[in-house]
Amino acid sequence: MRMLGIETSCDETAVAVVEAGDRGPLGQIRANLIYSQLGEHRRFGGVVPEIAARAHLERIDGLVTQALQEARLGLADLDGVAATGGPGLIGGVMVGLMTAKALAFAHDKPLIAVNHLEGHALSVRLTEDVAFPYLLLLVSGGHCQLLAVRGPGDYTRLGTTIDDAAGECFDKTAKLLGLGFPGGPAIERAAAGGDPRRFDLPRPMWRKPGCDFSFSGLKTAVRQTIEKLPAGDPKAVADLCASFQRTVGDVFADRCANALAAQPMDTLVVAGGVAANLYLRGRLEEVAARHGARLVAPPVKLCTDNGAMIAWAGIERLRLGQVDDLAFAPRPRWPLAEAA
Ligand code: KG4
Ligand code: ZN
Repeated sequence: MRMLGIETSCDETAVAVVEAGDRGPLGQIRANLIYSQLGEHRRFGGVVPEIAARAHLERIDGLVTQALQEARLGLADLDGVAATGGPGLIGGVMVGLMTAKALAFAHDKPLIAVNHLEGHALSVRLTEDVAFPYLLLLVSGGHCQLLAVRGPGDYTRLGTTIDDAAGECFDKTAKLLGLGFPGGPAIERAAAGGDPRRFDLPRPMWRKPGCDFSFSGLKTAVRQTIEKLPAGDPKAVADLCASFQRTVGDVFADRCANALAAQPMDTLVVAGGVAANLYLRGRLEEVAARHGARLVAPPVKLCTDNGAMIAWAGIERLRLGQVDDLAFAPRPRWPLAEAA
C-alpha cells in the first residue's frame, strides 16, 4: 500500500510517501519532506495564521512533486491520498486538505482526512513493532493527554490538561529566557549543563488522583523566577532550564504512573513534539519499567510534525476501509476520543 501524506496544520509544510503491507506495524518511508516556515514567523514571535496559510499555498505543489520524484512514483501508483483534516490553524488545514482532495478526485484515489492527533498517536507503529492496545502520552504544542489506544479511531481519554499544553509551557519559558522559538529544543540544549535541583518549582497535579495535567501554575512560577534572575548569567539559565525540565519530568512520571495503575498495559508510548526530549523519555522509561511496561517512542525526527505520520495514519485507516468523502470539511477542533 502506498500513501501520500500531507501535513499543513501549523507552521511546517510537509509531504511524505509511505509504503506498507496490508496489516501490522512497520512501513517504509520513501520520501519525507518538510519545509519549516520558522523564518517567516520569527520576527512576530509566534505563528501568524494568515502568513502560515499563504506560505503553505506557495510550497505545497512543489513539495508534492518533489516527494513523488524522490519516491520514484507517479500519482497513479498511489493507493490513497491522506491529509491532515484538523485540528489546527484552519487556513493551513484548508490548503493541505484541498490539495489532497484535488489529487484524489483527479486520479480517482481514496481520500483520508486524518486527525492530526491520530497522526501522532499512530506514528510509533510506522517505525517500531508495537501492537494495540497501548497507553499513549500525547504531548505537543497544543495538546497534553493520556489515552488508551485500542486501534485506529478507537481511543479512550484518561486525562488531559485543564489549562496549557506541555509544549506551550516549554515555548513560553524559552521566550521569557530569550532562547527563541520553538522553545522545546532550546530548553533541552540549555538544560544540558544545568543543575536540575537548583530551583524548586511547583508540580501542578503531582500526587493528586487521576491523570489530568495542569501547567499554568508552573508557567507563572517560571516567570516569577526569571524576573528575579541576575541578568547575563548563563549558569542560572542552564540551572533554570534543567530544573524546569525535571519538574515537567516529575509531572509526566506521576501522571503516567496513575494511568498505568488504572489501565495496566505492557507498552507506554510517548508521541508529539515534546516526545523529542531525551531527558523526558528517560523519565518515562523509568516509570514504565516500574509498572512492568516498556516505553516506545518514534525516532526524534518523527516526533515533531511531519507528513510521514499522516501518510501512516492514512494507511492504517485505509486498511480498515475508513475513507472520507470529498465533502469532508476541515475541522479547527477535533477531539481524538470523540466521546470526550
Ligand atoms: O507536535 P508538534 O511538532 O506540533 C504540534 O502539533 O503542536 O509539537 C511542537 C511542540 C512545541 O511546543 C515544541 O517546543 C515542542 O513540541 N518540542 C519540544 C522538543 N522539541 C519540540 N519540547 C521539549 N523538548 C524538545 N526537544
Ligand atoms: Zn503535531
